[in-house]
Amino acid sequence: MDRKVLLGVTGSIAAYKACELCRLLAKKGIEVQIVMTGHACELVGPATFRSLSGRPVALDLFEEPSAAVHHIELAKSAPVFMIAPCTADVVNKLAAGVADDLLTTTALAFTGRLIIAVAANAQMYLDEATQTSIRKLEARGVMVMAPDSGELACGDTGPGRMPEPVVLVAAAEEALRSSEALKGRRVVVTAGPTREDFDPVRYLSNRSSGKMGYALARAALQMGAKVTLVTGPTALPAPVAEKLDVHEVISARDMCAATLDAAREADIVIAAAAVADFRPRITSETKLKKYALTELAEQKEGETVITVELVANPDIISQLRELREDLLLVGFAAETQDVDDNARQKLQRKGLDFIVANDVSRTDIGFGSEDNEVCVISGSGQTRIAKSSKFEVAWRLLELVAASRVC
Ligand code: C5P
Repeated sequence: MDRKVLLGVTGSIAAYKACELCRLLAKKGIEVQIVMTGHACELVGPATFRSLSGRPVALDLFEEPSAAVHHIELAKSAPVFMIAPCTADVVNKLAAGVADDLLTTTALAFTGRLIIAVAANAQMYLDEATQTSIRKLEARGVMVMAPDSGELACGDTGPGRMPEPVVLVAAAEEALRSSEALKGRRVVVTAGPTREDFDPVRYLSNRSSGKMGYALARAALQMGAKVTLVTGPTALPAPVAEKLDVHEVISARDMCAATLDAAREADIVIAAAAVADFRPRITSETKLKKYALTELAEQKEGETVITVELVANPDIISQLRELREDLLLVGFAAETQDVDDNARQKLQRKGLDFIVANDVSRTDIGFGSEDNEVCVISGSGQTRIAKSSKFEVAWRLLELVAASRVC
């Protein structure tokens, strides 16, 4: 395993705790490369970190001697980048994509598991700007370790203390383990809704935003997989990555064809898409005129009613199972009632290895929201994943899948 961690240190009083963090990581046999901001150097001397890590500390974008493009080289040098302590200033910079020193340029170029341990005055931490930035970063897949509450260096009391180094070491070790959990695996993810046309302007669809599927694709990439994302129409920017293949589709039948095709070479398929179960039996090539539809209408209980015929779409999961007995198949069950029972039945009926049950009747999780809370059910039991960002849920789910006997 590539046991390397980039440890970013920013200008918080808690920088002194990063010395202990560095020492503990090194003691675990982890190669630590320190990156410091100018403000951090005002609080703790780079020489201390140089001794503790046994390596030169990265300080300056243009320092000599270094690789041609120092921050890019650094960004590629480790699978895990932990910024601890991470000041409110750096949280807000990261969220905005600001890259004006070595630490922030490296973070922007980094594609692995980014963990930030926030340390700030309670007001600065709780300020709307910082909280909005934290939500943004979480949605992008950054693991944000919430600060502990207690007495702060400034004398105030509240949330803002950097979590203890032992807690951060455990998080770094777990991230190192998981960052290779799907190495060499080929993963196909379906995401978003499908759109079933009545005519060139009208369609039948659902509320899926695609966020869960996109988070799964990004998490699988960070865990070392080669990923194919088959996505219905969403408002999300498609992730860009070397090991990612994106297929944009519109209808369930297109999604079915693209997924079956990609699955021929895959090890794991995660069906997170909300596929429309039915489509209009007839799709008009030209826009259906209101007067023509009205002519077909009948009057029922004082209303003008037209009847539309729908036909069933192919069930992608069932077809995948028919195609490949050996494929590890993960499905989702978006339910509004008897969530776990319905999911368990679906697991068996569809021949799935895992089913992820979520309650879409709740407005704080599921469809469209940033968070999710799920129950992962397999033949050998069930695990609840507590409410967290969709990316964290994706990460935990993939850890379970990677650790399973069938994988
Ligand atoms: O039966 P239900 O549609 O609730 O099952 C949801 C699961 O089945 C999801 O994983 C979804 O991606 C998948 N599905 C599918 N093909 C369909 C409908 C749903 O693969 N036509």
